[in-house]
Amino acid sequence: MDGSTEDFDHFDLASLTRPERYKILTGAVIPRPIAFVTSLGPNGLVNAAPFSQFVILAVDPGLLGFSVGPRNDGSHPKDTLANVRASEEFVINMVPEGWEDAVQKASDEHPADVSEVDLLGFKTFASTKIKTPRLLGSKIQFECVLDQIVNFGNAPNHLVVGKVVAMHVQSGLTQDCKIDPKAYSPIARIGGRNYVRLGDVVKA
Ligand SMILES: Cc1cc2nc3c(=O)[nH]c(=O)nc-3n(C[C@H](O)[C@H](O)[C@H](O)COP(=O)(O)O)c2cc1C
Repeated sequence: MDGSTEDFDHFDLASLTRPERYKILTGAVIPRPIAFVTSLGPNGLVNAAPFSQFVILAVDPGLLGFSVGPRNDGSHPKDTLANVRASEEFVINMVPEGWEDAVQKASDEHPADVSEVDLLGFKTFASTKIKTPRLLGSKIQFECVLDQIVNFGNAPNHLVVGKVVAMHVQSGLTQDCKIDPKAYSPIARIGGRNYVRLGDVVKA
């Protein structure tokens, strides 16, 4: 490999179909941490859905964002987006090892009156600053109030930005605000139905 163009396959994203673009982008930008978002639906039903287009947007104040795309059939917005627009709050639950299957199943499309939390046997517990509950078993949760929703692209994707009003870290994971990554060990998503667990930690 000497950096010549023959060493690479070249892609013009604009000439790919939407599914091809999705596949190649989400296969390239890996591993992605997963925001397992709980939100309150109409009648107080707790909705849970995973989002791996997930990022720290600011630290003063702490702002986290996740991007909600359209449904596959292009119909009404995903429940999380509709819920957050209405309630202006949500919880991001980080995902521990062992939840791979449940997270995958939580991403199946269910009618708005079906709670993935009940369906998959998750247990919730109360948040401290907002009404939306947290998921029991998640080692870190962020209680967020909606800061803004920004649209990107033609679909469009909605970047939901939340201000962290409370952050909860399982006891024993932190020392002087430093989190022990191995003890925390959240999973991340790679392409499709594939997930990774934390591997070697390398010091630079
Ligand atoms: C691990 C994982 C990550 C996902 N990340 C995203 C994402 O970043 N954006 C998105 O729109 N959908 C994403 N999805 C798909 C949503 O979870 C799925 O559309 C879900 O049904 C939305 O649920 P809701 O209608 O209850 O909000 C992801 C699915 C999985 C399994």
